Amino acid sequence: MTMIYHPSDDSFLLSEILKDILEASNEKSSVKILEIGCGSGIQLQTIKKAGIKKENIFSCDINAEAVEHCKKLGFSSVKSDLFEKIKGKFDIITFNPPYLPEDKREPKDSQLATTGGKKGSEVINKFLRQAKSHLAKNGKIILLTSSLTKGIKWGNYKKKLLGKKKIFMEELYVWELRR
Ligand SMILES: C[S@@+](CC[C@H](N)C(=O)[O-])C[C@H]1O[C@@H](n2cnc3c(N)ncnc32)[C@H](O)[C@@H]1O
Repeated sequence: MTMIYHPSDDSFLLSEILKDILEASNEKSSVKILEIGCGSGIQLQTIKKAGIKKENIFSCDINAEAVEHCKKLGFSSVKSDLFEKIKGKFDIITFNPPYLPEDKREPKDSQLATTGGKKGSEVINKFLRQAKSHLAKNGKIILLTSSLTKGIKWGNYKKKLLGKKKIFMEELYVWELRR
């Protein structure tokens, strides 16, 4: 059994920004959103509270426990390694990824939610490559990263910093990315 990531500073920062973006949007009734790595469902709940129709909210996680939990909350969710099982295109794709460089002392159980490979960017880089073909016309990615994440390959995405927050040993960033 793999534990579900307990919402933390990263979750709260992403949630605040998603709330602001969605509440300000005047296309709420039609906007289609995908969250990769839904965990406890905190972002899905924020998205729903901001006025997005439940049938337009989609999610996945590599952790089957998280998927079951989000389904119980009433959200559409599938077990998927990034976009492996995802079909279609979305106006917004959001991800609070595992972004820390590998630390062998960290238990395997929590690594899935926190460790993004040797430099911290392997999962993010794979996500950025795959996300392109799932963005609708004028679609955007809302992605969280950290100052501790090294080696992010942004490719051709147009990047805008939406918010940041300094916590103990690191700074968290939330980016808007467009093709
Ligand atoms: C930092 S947690 C964020 C959870 C939640 N979205 C939040 O904001 O609190 C990262 C989540 O991504 C999931 N995850 C890690 N690698 C993944 C992958 N390759 N595909 C899909 N989900 C993944 C983890 O299981 C975990 O639930």
